[in-house]
Amino acid sequence: MKFHSYPEVYKIKIIVNGIEKEQLIETNVNLLDILNNLGIRIEAICGGKGKCGKCKVILENPDSASPITSEEKRLLSQDEISIGMRLGCLIEPKDGISIIIPDSSLQKDQRILSEGISTKFNFDPAIKSIGIKLPRPKLGGDESFLDYIKKELKREINIDYLSLKRITDELNYETLEANLVVFNNEIIGFKKNEEKIYGIAVDIGTTTVVTYLIDIETGALVDIESILNPQIKYGEDVISRITYSLNKGVSIPHNSIVDGINTMIKKLCDRNRINSSSIYEMTAVGNTAMHHIFLNINPRSLSVSPFTPVVSKNLDIKARDIGIEINPSGNIHVLPVISGFVGADTVGVLLATGLYKNDEISLAIDIGTNGELVLGNKEKMVSCSCAAGPALEGGHLGFGMRASTGAIESVFIDKDSFDTFYKTINKSKPRGFCGSGIIDIVAEMLKVGIIDSSGKIIENGNDRIRKNKTNNHKEFVVEWKEKTDIDTDIVITASDIREIQLAKGAIMTGINILLEKMKISADKIENLYLAGAFGNYIDIKNAIRIGLIPNIPLERIKPVGNAAGEGAKISLMSNEKRIEENILIKKIDYIELASENNFNEEFVKSLRFP
Ligand code: FES
Repeated sequence: MKFHSYPEVYKIKIIVNGIEKEQLIETNVNLLDILNNLGIRIEAICGGKGKCGKCKVILENPDSASPITSEEKRLLSQDEISIGMRLGCLIEPKDGISIIIPDSSLQKDQRILSEGISTKFNFDPAIKSIGIKLPRPKLGGDESFLDYIKKELKREINIDYLSLKRITDELNYETLEANLVVFNNEIIGFKKNEEKIYGIAVDIGTTTVVTYLIDIETGALVDIESILNPQIKYGEDVISRITYSLNKGVSIPHNSIVDGINTMIKKLCDRNRINSSSIYEMTAVGNTAMHHIFLNINPRSLSVSPFTPVVSKNLDIKARDIGIEINPSGNIHVLPVISGFVGADTVGVLLATGLYKNDEISLAIDIGTNGELVLGNKEKMVSCSCAAGPALEGGHLGFGMRASTGAIESVFIDKDSFDTFYKTINKSKPRGFCGSGIIDIVAEMLKVGIIDSSGKIIENGNDRIRKNKTNNHKEFVVEWKEKTDIDTDIVITASDIREIQLAKGAIMTGINILLEKMKISADKIENLYLAGAFGNYIDIKNAIRIGLIPNIPLERIKPVGNAAGEGAKISLMSNEKRIEENILIKKIDYIELASENNFNEEFVKSLRFP
């Protein structure tokens, strides 16, 4: 959000964790952007649109900022406003502004899922090291060293220019031996005898990015590094990032993700004492927006119907062309996308689960802000993207938060007293609830009768069920103020329940429409693969209880962890699977749910709890 101009240089005082910091600021952006530029990360689930109410800061001197807006009055309580609380994304700072950032607004370390399922495949990486010994050239011969190499390899081969320049240094003139590093039909480097060669597989999630370092000659996983996606400062969800790219240029979020990946590469190299030039390939997966932004492709076409991706087939790009700091002649292999909203991460899930090769019917679900679904088998596959919204990840909920320290991750409610028993991440005092916690709370509320199948909260005189003093809406107290880390009662409100209904309704509508397209009922699903962090941490019985996933025998439901990342690893290590990537995307029919005749009817049906 941008404001009209104000002094080009002004002073800002920021108090964070009790430490004061004074800065001169030269930009005319809002306070949230200023904090981001200073590396102070605060919660901003709506990406600075003034909608989520998470970016809370306290103004020490109310006159040093633009007046409070109507959105802030709506999103903040009277108590909060009385202590000078404001929303960072809606503040236009003035010279001399002084702010306190409450601990509850700071982004906490986030739990990142890096493990996936292990799948069998033929180990046959696209990058190979090949030892050669050339015949000694003869005086008067008309062949070059490159000709001798081609003869020795018995095939046509090209050479990357940077490698061409190094041939005379790398070829042992005594023995005429060299170790070539080859990608497809191109020499991209030379390896010393004692050196190892590596590859990295990167899963570019909207929220987190995970990088796997792999010994490309043995397939051994050497190390893993992960970060929060640094593009979060440009919006927490895909739509915000696309909008940001349209307004301010794709190169800003593009550079941000490239820098983030380079930081991880440096850490992996330092920790394992390897030179980044011995990494010869990177494979990457991500949803279609992350895919386009990583490639520095303007994602404009993803923002308007029919949401056509600029490119769908897999791509190979020189590392030096995209700024990834591995060997500059190394290859960046980006997996293909299926549609504007079903991306390369889903292709990764398919490679990892083998759904596209199964005889039996399987359903893969990757739940995030968008739920991506693929249903089918080796004969036929259908896919869709469901606009689940951020509720299942904690967004749009009063006390929703990411899966980080203090998030309630599992809950049990006593059926008589309605007392709650719960587990938090890192066993800290509770600060809110993350996705798995929300599903448990709603399922437990249904089981003990605090809500009915329409989602209505039923009062029964228990003091945990009450009406909110400000808006008179009903809410359930999950934990009392004294026992929380945020000095306020943690509650789940009627509107939170509604958000969960909308999210789970969107997913179940997608599943039902795909089942209908395949002309089968849910009991024909033999494998239900739950991908991603969400699928790994949820209580499956509770997910069935709230109607988020179909009620099929539990043994058929398989959390597959970070299957998208696993797919990137498989693509790094198997040429055969890499060829299959492009074939499998052609076998999938993408269904645009909103254009289905029965979409509204299905959606309304799916809103109810079973
Ligand atoms: S309200 Fe400020 S980031 Fe959402």
